[in-house]
Amino acid sequence: MLKQIQETHRAKFSDNPAVFSAPGRVNLIGEHTDYAGGFVMPAAINFQTLAAISPRADGQIAIYSKNFDELLTYPLDAIPAKASHRWVDYPLGVLTVLRQQGIEIPAFNLTLDGNVPLGAGLSSSASIEVATMAAMLSLTATKLPLPKIALLSQSAENNYVGASCGIMDQFISCCGEEDHALLLDCRSLEYQMAPIPSDISLVIANTMVKHSHAGGEYNQRRAEVEEGARILATHRPEIKLLRDATMDDLEKWGSTMPEGVLKRSRHVISENLRTVAAAKALEAGDLETLGRLMYEAHASYRDDFEASCREADIMVEFASKEPACIGARLTGGGFGGCTINLVKAAEAKGFTERLKEYYHTATGISAEIYLCRASSGVHQVI
Ligand code: GLA
Repeated sequence: MLKQIQETHRAKFSDNPAVFSAPGRVNLIGEHTDYAGGFVMPAAINFQTLAAISPRADGQIAIYSKNFDELLTYPLDAIPAKASHRWVDYPLGVLTVLRQQGIEIPAFNLTLDGNVPLGAGLSSSASIEVATMAAMLSLTATKLPLPKIALLSQSAENNYVGASCGIMDQFISCCGEEDHALLLDCRSLEYQMAPIPSDISLVIANTMVKHSHAGGEYNQRRAEVEEGARILATHRPEIKLLRDATMDDLEKWGSTMPEGVLKRSRHVISENLRTVAAAKALEAGDLETLGRLMYEAHASYRDDFEASCREADIMVEFASKEPACIGARLTGGGFGGCTINLVKAAEAKGFTERLKEYYHTATGISAEIYLCRASSGVHQVI
């Protein structure tokens, strides 16, 4: 991919670019907890967006997407104020947010290329934002800490693209490390790395059911989670986010909530407990506990959060019967996308083949399955 993007950039713009890479991610556990100030444990994966950039002198910006084979040009002083619901929203959103921070980016040529599967719940959007932001910042003297790049990328997605995501995806795309998962406290942004043993493979199985964040379901769940916090706060005002609430609070006051809000809240509160416990288990090499927590997280995502789909349930059900699989669950925003399966590396190939066949027989769908490694966050490649 690196050689190709350099060649494409040279062919389009006749200059040699600097190239930045930012990864997609898989979340091991901790779903829909980030915007509730809770805990998540993702890993960056070896699928990424590359952003190739070089300065230009005529006050224009040109952005070429290799994936969409489209070149768009704008005067630097007339960037559209609103999203157009196309791929170009991501780089334009990033540029807009940087400007709002008082960081002026000089005119540039930018080429984007990526292999993070789109709409599969592996954070292709975050990887585009983070790669683009690193590339744009390289044209200025401004150095920003990685968590700040994550926050600004999230802001581009929230305020320009118009998806109300939390901080998880952009944060791991910035701060991921090879062979490690990252436990993030989404309120303080404190984090710690947990090594993933080398004899475990991250097997990511794409149900091929497309999810879309712009689609209402994510936002609707988020609204219910926020409603849960609001209701509990009327009883215990210290509760600002569901992160502050306990199972005890739910026992006491759950009956004052609409049924749906109660279930979403129960998922988030219990998921926070599971995620912290899972990080401890991974740290201690207690894979059995980690696996059990992943299966419990899937059940909670399916039954209480109601964000799974039949296809993902079929995959996880299959995985739970495979001795080679330590734990499995639907990963990402929900309603489709991929399952994450932690599989003993020596048996990953056989597991993959059996899962494919079983899934095809059960659903008629040919799943794509990716054998991934936990990878490093954003960096300059060349
Ligand atoms: C998407 C969002 C994240 C997070 C997950 C669910 O990936 O971008 O912020 O909310 O869904 O855990």
